[in-house]
Amino acid sequence: MIYEPSDDTYLLMDSLPNDTKGMAVLEVGTGSGIIAEEIVKRGAPFVLATDVSFEAALSAKSRGLEVVVADLLSALSDRAVFDLVLFNPPYLPSSPRSNSEAWTGGIGGWELSFKFLAQVKYHIKPNGKILMVLSSLTSERILKACADLGFAFERRACRDFFYESLCVYEFREQRQGIPKLL
Ligand SMILES: C[S@@+](CC[C@H](N)C(=O)[O-])C[C@H]1O[C@@H](n2cnc3c(N)ncnc32)[C@H](O)[C@@H]1O
Repeated sequence: MIYEPSDDTYLLMDSLPNDTKGMAVLEVGTGSGIIAEEIVKRGAPFVLATDVSFEAALSAKSRGLEVVVADLLSALSDRAVFDLVLFNPPYLPSSPRSNSEAWTGGIGGWELSFKFLAQVKYHIKPNGKILMVLSSLTSERILKACADLGFAFERRACRDFFYESLCVYEFREQRQGIPKLL
């Protein structure tokens, strides 16, 4: 299925850099492709989109985007490194009655986001950043694991809804101090 652009889509859209000239950008889970298309409009010379859904990939492709059907970043070589990686992940807990990959992120809802963060650190340039949408329903667990995964994070934008808050977080690789030799 193709995820219809929704509140989370527009929250991420509002957090995009205005100027993406010179940037290599990856959008994971592109859905309709609306966000990756906006990144192209803002000047990025290299934009790659992925989605696990072939149907979604076809939709994104019809916007003129380069799309790969893949599970997260599994299709990328180690040499694929980006200035900016975007992900608006599915984050609801799955259940026998609700298990669409468009909106469920695992049994606890957080597993897919965690897996993404574990993979993306190998595909970020030294000063690159990740913009990711997290829901208050599952963010605590993911943010707690960040230090272990080697990321620092800041909250960029938030919006409150009836039963959750949605926030865009910016993640960067945590700089290690230079070890003292003496
Ligand atoms: C919440 S939707 C976001 C879609 C779009 N980026 C947007 O903001 O409107 C999550 C997207 O992630 C895709 N997805 C789910 N599991 C994935 C995986 N393992 N690898 C890549 N994409 C995945 C879904 O097919 C869906 O298109």
